[in-house]
Amino acid sequence: MFLLNWQVTSRKDQHQYWCRRDEPYRYISVNDFSDAFKEFHVGRNLGSELRVPFDRSRNHPAALTTSKYGISKMELIKACFSREWLLMKRNSFVYIFKVLQLIILGTIGMTVFLRTKMHRRSVEDGAIFLGAMFLGLVTHLFNGFAELAMSIAKLPIFYKQRDLLFYPSWAYALPTWLLKIPISFLECAVWICMTYYVMGFDPNVERFFRHYLLLVLISQMASGLFRLLAALGREMVVADTFGSFAQLVLLVLGGFLIARDNIKKWWIWGYWSSPLMYAQNAIAVNEFLGHSWNKVVDPTQSNDTLGVQVLKLRGIFVDANWYWIGVGALLGYIMLFNILFILFLDWLDPLGKGQAVVSEEELREKHVNRTGENVELLALGTDAQNSPSDGRGEIIGAETRKRGMVLPFTPLSITFDNIRYSVDMPQEMKEKGITEDRLLLLKGVSGAFRPGVLTALMGVSGAGKTTLMDVLAGRKTGGYIEGDISISGYPKKQETFARIAGYCEQNDIHSPHVTVYESLLYSAWLRLPSEVDSEARKMFVEEVMELVELTSLRGALVGLPGVNGLSTEQRKRLTIAVELVANPSIIFMDEPTSGLDARAAAIVMRTVRNTVDTGRTVVCTIHQPSIDIFEAFDELFLMKRGGEEIYVGPLGHNSCHLIDYFEGIQGVRKIKDGYNPATWMLEVTTLAQEDILGINFAEVYKNSDLYQRNKALISELSTPPPGSKDLHFPTQFSQSFFTQCMACLWKQHKSYWRNPSYTATRIFFTTVIALIFGTIFLNLGKKINKRQDLFNSLGSMYAAVLFIGIQNGQTVQPIVDVERTVFYREKAAGMYSALPYAFAQVLIEIPHIFLQTVVYGLIVYSLIGFDWTAAKFFWYMFFMFFTFMYFTFYGMMAVAMTPNSDIAAIVSTAFYCIWNIFAGFLIPRPRIPIWWRWYSWACPVAWTLYGLVASQYGDITYATLEDGEVVQDYIRRYFGFRHDYLGYVATAVVGFAVLFAFVFAFSIKVFNFQRR
Ligand SMILES: Nc1ncnc2c1ncn2[C@@H]1O[C@H](COP(=O)(O)OP(=O)(O)OP(=O)(O)O)[C@@H](O)[C@H]1O
Ligand SMILES: [Mg+2]
Repeated sequence: MFLLNWQVTSRKDQHQYWCRRDEPYRYISVNDFSDAFKEFHVGRNLGSELRVPFDRSRNHPAALTTSKYGISKMELIKACFSREWLLMKRNSFVYIFKVLQLIILGTIGMTVFLRTKMHRRSVEDGAIFLGAMFLGLVTHLFNGFAELAMSIAKLPIFYKQRDLLFYPSWAYALPTWLLKIPISFLECAVWICMTYYVMGFDPNVERFFRHYLLLVLISQMASGLFRLLAALGREMVVADTFGSFAQLVLLVLGGFLIARDNIKKWWIWGYWSSPLMYAQNAIAVNEFLGHSWNKVVDPTQSNDTLGVQVLKLRGIFVDANWYWIGVGALLGYIMLFNILFILFLDWLDPLGKGQAVVSEEELREKHVNRTGENVELLALGTDAQNSPSDGRGEIIGAETRKRGMVLPFTPLSITFDNIRYSVDMPQEMKEKGITEDRLLLLKGVSGAFRPGVLTALMGVSGAGKTTLMDVLAGRKTGGYIEGDISISGYPKKQETFARIAGYCEQNDIHSPHVTVYESLLYSAWLRLPSEVDSEARKMFVEEVMELVELTSLRGALVGLPGVNGLSTEQRKRLTIAVELVANPSIIFMDEPTSGLDARAAAIVMRTVRNTVDTGRTVVCTIHQPSIDIFEAFDELFLMKRGGEEIYVGPLGHNSCHLIDYFEGIQGVRKIKDGYNPATWMLEVTTLAQEDILGINFAEVYKNSDLYQRNKALISELSTPPPGSKDLHFPTQFSQSFFTQCMACLWKQHKSYWRNPSYTATRIFFTTVIALIFGTIFLNLGKKINKRQDLFNSLGSMYAAVLFIGIQNGQTVQPIVDVERTVFYREKAAGMYSALPYAFAQVLIEIPHIFLQTVVYGLIVYSLIGFDWTAAKFFWYMFFMFFTFMYFTFYGMMAVAMTPNSDIAAIVSTAFYCIWNIFAGFLIPRPRIPIWWRWYSWACPVAWTLYGLVASQYGDITYATLEDGEVVQDYIRRYFGFRHDYLGYVATAVVGFAVLFAFVFAFSIKVFNFQRR
C-alpha cells in the first residue's frame, strides 16, 4: 500500500503499473483515484456512515471527563516539582560548573581588587570600589544567561505535554522558578564569602547581609528575565538576540556606564526601568553610607563625607532609603518576569518548522493532483516507456537512455587479503574485567571487488561493515590495521587513494548554505584532474545531476538535516552525486538506501546500477533490501558479528548460488517460496542458529570451495596484469594550493551570502546597537570638562566593544562548527588540505567585518560627536575593525580547539568574563596589583580601550578637568594611556587578530575531533 501510494500516483512511475494491455496508457490523476474511491462500495458506505451524527448518549459513562487535567492541582504541582528536581539532579554538572566558574572569577576578582590596594583616600578610590561592586552585579547577571539556553532546550517537550493536557503552564513554571531560589542563595554565598571581606567592603555584618541579599535578588531577577526571553523567543537565535539587547539596555542604562544627569530625556525611561539601576543604587548606598566612608576629606572643598561625594559624583542617589527602594524594585521585577514567563508559556505556540524543499516537478505534480488539469508541461516521465518486467528490470529497467560518461577513467579492482583491524580496548569493557589491551573488530577478512561488478556488503548491525569500508578507504582515524590491500595489483597508496575513490558516508554531511548545483560544482572543481577545463566540468556535473535526478533541485539550498532544506532522500542522492562528480574508479557506499521509501530507494539503486555499468567498481552496504533491490546486486560479501566473512561470491539468478550454498549446509532451514533471500540468509546465520546447529559459519566458509576460489581470485588480481603500470599522481591533491584556496573561498563566499540569518543579522544587530549607543551618548564625545564626561565616553567604548565583540565571537561558533564537520569529510575525500580551508574561513570574515565596522563607526562616531579629524576618525575605525576581527577569530579558534560549539561557547565565555575584569574600565591598569598587571597586557580588550581612548583624548592639552588637571595628564596618570604609544597599541591589536587566526588555522590542521 505504501509503495503504491507513491508510485501509482507519480507521473513518472505510474506507467509501469498499467494493467489493461488492450488500452493505451493515460495518466490517472489523484483526483480521478479519489473520485473512483467515492463511487466504490467501500467509499459509499463510509460516506453514508459519516453522514449520521454521533449520538452522545450511547457513550460509556467512564468515557466522559469532567475535569481538564487528570489529577488535582496539588498533585500536579507535586509531580512537576519532583520532575524538575530530578532533572536538576541529572543536570548537576551545569550547576557545579557554574559554581566553579564563580569560584575562579571570584578568585581573580578578589586578587585584583585586593583590600590592601583599596584605599579610601579620595573620590577616585571610591570609583574603584564601585567597579568592584559592579563586577559582582554583572557576574551574577551574566550567570543567569545560561538559563536562556536551558529553558529553550526544554520548550519543545513542554509544548507537547501542555497540549496533551499533562499539566497547566503554571504548574510547570513554578517549580522551575522556585527550585532555582536556593541555588541563587548558594551561588551568591560562594561569591560573597570569597570576595566581601577580601575586597575590603564595609566590615559591618548587617551591611554584609544586605549586600548578600541584593546579589541574590539580582541573580533571581536575571534568571527570571532570561527564562522570560526564552519563552518569548522560543528559538535560540531569536532569543539570543533578545537576550543580548536586554543585557545591553540593562547595562548601559544602569547608571554605571553613563551617569543619570547625562542621560538624554528620551532615554531616561530606560534608566528608571532598568533593574540594574536599582540594584546599583542600593548596593552603592549600602556601602558608601557606611562607617568607613564617613569622613570629610577636604573641608575647604566640600562638607560632604567622602562616601556622599563619591555617590554625588557618579550621579547616584544619596538617601539611605534607596537600599530598600532597590530591594522592593527587584522583588517587583522578579514577580513580574516570572508571571510574564507563565503567561507567555500559556499563550505562545512553538515557532513553525522549516519546510523541506519541494522540487518544481513535485509542485507541478501537486498542482495537477489538486486541479485535475492534465498539463503536459514536462515530458520527463516519458522515458519509462519500455520497461521490461522481470525482477531486475524494475530497478534498472526504466533507464534505457544512454548515459554517456564524458570523462575517461581507468577501471580498477581492489583486493584485500587477511585484513585485521583492532582498537584499544574501550574503557567500559576493561571495567568488566577484560584484560586484553586490544579489541579485534575485523578478524582477517579477504575479498576482491572488480570493475563492473556490484557487490553488496551485508551483515547484521554491528557486524563490522562500516569498519571494513573505513579500513579499505583509509578513513580510520585510530586503531591498528594489518593485511594487504592492493589496487589492480599494486599496493594501495593512501595519500593519493582519494584521487581514484569515492566514499558515500552513512550520514549525509553537506554545507548547509550552498545550493545543490554549487555543492556539485565545488566537488568537481577540487576533485577532477586539473587538466579538465571548466566547460567539461560543468557538462559533467549536469550529466551527473541528470543521472541521480537532481536537476529539478539544482537551485535548492541544502540546509541542515531535520531543520530545513533537502529531505533525507534528496540529501542521500546529493551525497552520491558529490562522489560521482569526482569521476572515481572505485566507489564505496555506506547504506545508500537507509531511511528512504521504496520509490526513493529504487531511484538510488537505479543510479548505482548505472554507475556500475559504466565499468566502475562499486561496493554498497545495505540493510533490509527488498527482493528487487537485493537482486540488482551481482555479488555478496556477507559478514557475521565479530568481523568475519561467511559468504563471498556471486548471487546468481534469483540468488540461486547463495541459496544453494546455505541450503547445502547440514541443518539449515530451507527457504520458503517467495521469501526474501536477504532476510532468510540473515535469519539462518544468526549466533542463535549457530548454537542450535553447533557449527560456525565462518569455519564452514573457510573450508568451502568458494573460499578456495576466492583465494585464487585474490592472488590473481593482486599481481599486476602484464604491461600495466602503477597509477602515479605527482601531487596528493588534484588542484594546486592556490586553486584550493580559491575554491574554498568561493564556497565560503556563497555560504555567507546565502546565510543572511548570520551575516545580515549581524549587520542589523550592529546597526541597532550603534543607534542605541549613538542616541544614549549623543554629543558626549566632545565634552571633556569633568572626569565623569571621560568616564561616560569610555563607558560607551567599553560597552560597545564587549557587546558587539562577544556577539561576533559567539555567533560565528555554530557556523564554524557545522563547516568543520563538512571539512572533515572533504579533507578525507582529498579535496584540499587544512590550510586552504582555514585560510578561506578567515578571509571570508574580513569583508563582512569591514562592512560591520563602517556601519558601526559612521553611526556612532557622528552621533556621539567625537572629533572630526582624519587621524582620530581613522584610528577609531582601525581599532574597531581589528577588535571585531580578533573577537570573531577568537570565537573560531575556540571551536577549532574543542570538540563542539557547546564546549567552545562555555570555554570562551569564561574568558570573556576575565577580559571584562581586565579591560581597564572597572579598574584602570595602574590600579591593578602588580601580580595581575601582566594579564592586562595579555587582555586584548585592554589594548583596544587603550587605543580608542589614547587616540581620542590622549593628545588633548588645551582642556582641563574640574580640578584643573589637563586631560592628557589625567589620561596618563589615571588610565596609564599615552598618545605617543599608539603605534605599539595598534601593533598589539593587529597582533591579536593575526595570532587568533593563526591558532585557528593551526588547530584545524592539528586537532582532529572526529572519531572513527
Ligand atoms: N572505535 C571503536 N572502538 C570500539 N569499538 C568499535 C569502534 N568502532 C566500531 N566498533 C565496534 O565494532 C563493531 C562494528 O561496527 P560497525 O560500525 O562497523 O558496524 P556496522 O556493521 O556498520 O553496523 P551498522 O549496520 O549498525 O552500521 C560494533 O560492535 C562497534 O561497536
Ligand atoms: Mg555501519
